[in-house]
Amino acid sequence: MTQIFLDTANLEEIDKYLKQGIISGVTTNQKIFLKEKGCNFEERAQQILEAVYPLPVSLEGPNDYDGIIKAALNYQKWKSKKFGNLNNLVIKVPMLANGDGLKAVLRLDTIFRIKVNVTACMTLNQAFLAASAGATYVSLFYCRMKDWLDEEYALDTIKQTMKLFKGGKTQLIIGSIRSPDDITKILSVQPDIITIPPKILEQMPQNDMTDKTLKEFEEAWTEFKKAEK
Ligand code: E4P
Repeated sequence: MTQIFLDTANLEEIDKYLKQGIISGVTTNQKIFLKEKGCNFEERAQQILEAVYPLPVSLEGPNDYDGIIKAALNYQKWKSKKFGNLNNLVIKVPMLANGDGLKAVLRLDTIFRIKVNVTACMTLNQAFLAASAGATYVSLFYCRMKDWLDEEYALDTIKQTMKLFKGGKTQLIIGSIRSPDDITKILSVQPDIITIPPKILEQMPQNDMTDKTLKEFEEAWTEFKKAEK
């Protein structure tokens, strides 16, 4: 079944959804950290890695080859008193137009044994290259693909990427979710993972007809209890 990752750097949201038992990992990016403005990046990132351990946490670094490698080696040194090495760390590597991201994937995966999530992919070709370089995860951005072309293109690209990755080590993450309806559409093709912002996840259990039905049942129960011998 498709897994849910939480697209956030907020500890309360992570705790809330861990307690519901519905999330299998966390993803972050620079814009998500901006929502937590004022916190210390290294401190918060380690808290997230500990909070969800051993579930995977994707952390983004700089957008150039040397910067990515340096950041990844720094993050890899982080230790937790409780768990020791935080080996649930996943480095997000951007799909850079000059191919340097792919070079970083190969180095991180084969030499340093650090898992990689190649991010901001919009095409099957990019996903193909990322998986070929050894990425553990590839992220396709659903709503941004829709902004660029249309919904048909976005769903078709997800479908084709899933077909391509079948049986291999690379898992497909679908990000860039803006509404519960996006999730319903994406679930029609069942990718490995959808990463969902907390404000969308919060809306997903809500349904007026469910509320009406539960109210009806509650009233019936009250009536039954009144007449009970
Ligand atoms: C997740 O890994 C992505 O960084 C995120 O879902 C992107 O979402 P956005 O298109 O809303 O920025």
